[in-house]
Amino acid sequence: MFTDKIEHKDFDKMPEEYKDLLIRVLLVQVDSELGGPDLYLDSWARTAPTLADQLLLVKTAYEEIDHHQRFAKLLEQLGVETASITKRRREERILETFRVPLDTWGEMGAFGALIDRVGQIHLEDFTDCSYLPVTNIVPKILEEERGHIAHGERILRDLCTTPEGTIEAQAAVDKMYPSALDMFGKSESKRSDKFREWGIKGRTNAEARQDYRDLTDPFILGIGLTLPDPEKGRHFL
Ligand SMILES: [Fe+2]
Ligand SMILES: [Fe+2]
Repeated sequence: MFTDKIEHKDFDKMPEEYKDLLIRVLLVQVDSELGGPDLYLDSWARTAPTLADQLLLVKTAYEEIDHHQRFAKLLEQLGVETASITKRRREERILETFRVPLDTWGEMGAFGALIDRVGQIHLEDFTDCSYLPVTNIVPKILEEERGHIAHGERILRDLCTTPEGTIEAQAAVDKMYPSALDMFGKSESKRSDKFREWGIKGRTNAEARQDYRDLTDPFILGIGLTLPDPEKGRHFL
């Protein structure tokens, strides 16, 4: 297990395996930070039910683009070009979750409650990252992710106060919960072990997925919805 902490100036001295793994994980992160804004700026920023919701979505989009910029800066420092990632649109996102439009307000809520929650778990994994420039930017980003999750949860909770709303919320959760679980990657993954060995990420895929379920499942049940079958048509096992 690698326990040293690496500054930017030490990066070049690291083995190729370390460099490759770090850049790989940052490339997914920097792409995914734009996933939300590309989904809801066009569809919900001006059609959300209340002005408070509209403002929150615009604020969230602002923060996500800022997260993208912060991670892009780290990649640029490592000599990785990111302008083409910034220009990518929805259809080109690395993770499938970010390519599927949010058709209902319930899906907008489920995006915050379930998908931003995945983001939180991934970022928590970076809080003790062996590459210090990552560790340094995580606390503020993590705090903002908590706000995105809270908004999503509030949307779903409000929907669940009426029978029609409950149906919409359940459909949204049924659609997004399996893909959220998929975002943690395969449970048996050599690369996931390598990330841990090099101190880049704190948990294995399976551990991160379980911690996610421990937070998400009680919320879903608590607002009166049914837990979707986690294994339905999924690839991660
Ligand atoms: Fe973010
Ligand atoms: Fe977020």
